[in-house]
Amino acid sequence: MSPADATHWDARYAAGSPWGTEPNRTVREAVTGLTPGRARDVAAGDGRHALWLAAAGWQVDALDFSPTAVDRGRASTALLDGEGALPGSVHWEVADATVARPEPLAYDLVLHSYLHLPGESALAALRLSASGVAPGGVFLLVGHDESNLEHGHGGPQDPDVLTAVEPITRALTAAGLVVERAEVVERPVDGAPRPALDTVVVARRPAS
Ligand SMILES: C[S@@+](CC[C@H](N)C(=O)[O-])C[C@H]1O[C@@H](n2cnc3c(N)ncnc32)[C@H](O)[C@@H]1O
Repeated sequence: MSPADATHWDARYAAGSPWGTEPNRTVREAVTGLTPGRARDVAAGDGRHALWLAAAGWQVDALDFSPTAVDRGRASTALLDGEGALPGSVHWEVADATVARPEPLAYDLVLHSYLHLPGESALAALRLSASGVAPGGVFLLVGHDESNLEHGHGGPQDPDVLTAVEPITRALTAAGLVVERAEVVERPVDGAPRPALDTVVVARRPAS
């Protein structure tokens, strides 16, 4: 069983919520200030970002290839919706990010948060996601950077699946997006001797 296998992730989600319910701080910073619209959360896990976005008024399509993660996400969505805590919405789908085709040019925000895939699979997922970004819309990627392995903390230990600024910016540019931010940022981790190092890329499709 490997991280490329949905059953690996099912087992993790069956044991609880691995990432908690708070959004990643880079996601919070990058999204706060955007006008809520339609969002696509790719490899959404059990929904910490999808639910946070819906609470801020976004209409979210969330997908993950782990049925257990999606079940958990649906249950949290129903709970919060029943409490009147979601001015927006989350529509959940079990889908593989390397083949699931978004509605073209439809999303004001497309999010990849810690989706780690090898080589051509990573590029395929990026290209598909970019195709869903609406004119004026934003693509946001946060991932464990390739430098994290030697100089950071945590994250996947397989160098083939780590993210890096250069290939991501190249793929997004080729897909017609304009990269507005591309850098490696430090993320403090409680109890860790040094921060984690994250790739952060923000790109936008020019308004037509
Ligand atoms: C580290 S978790 C991140 C979850 C979420 N984005 C977050 O930041 O909380 C990685 C997620 O990617 C999902 N995943 C991995 N490969 C995938 C694929 N090919 N298609 C869809 N989801 C995938 C896993 O099931 C897992 O939920």
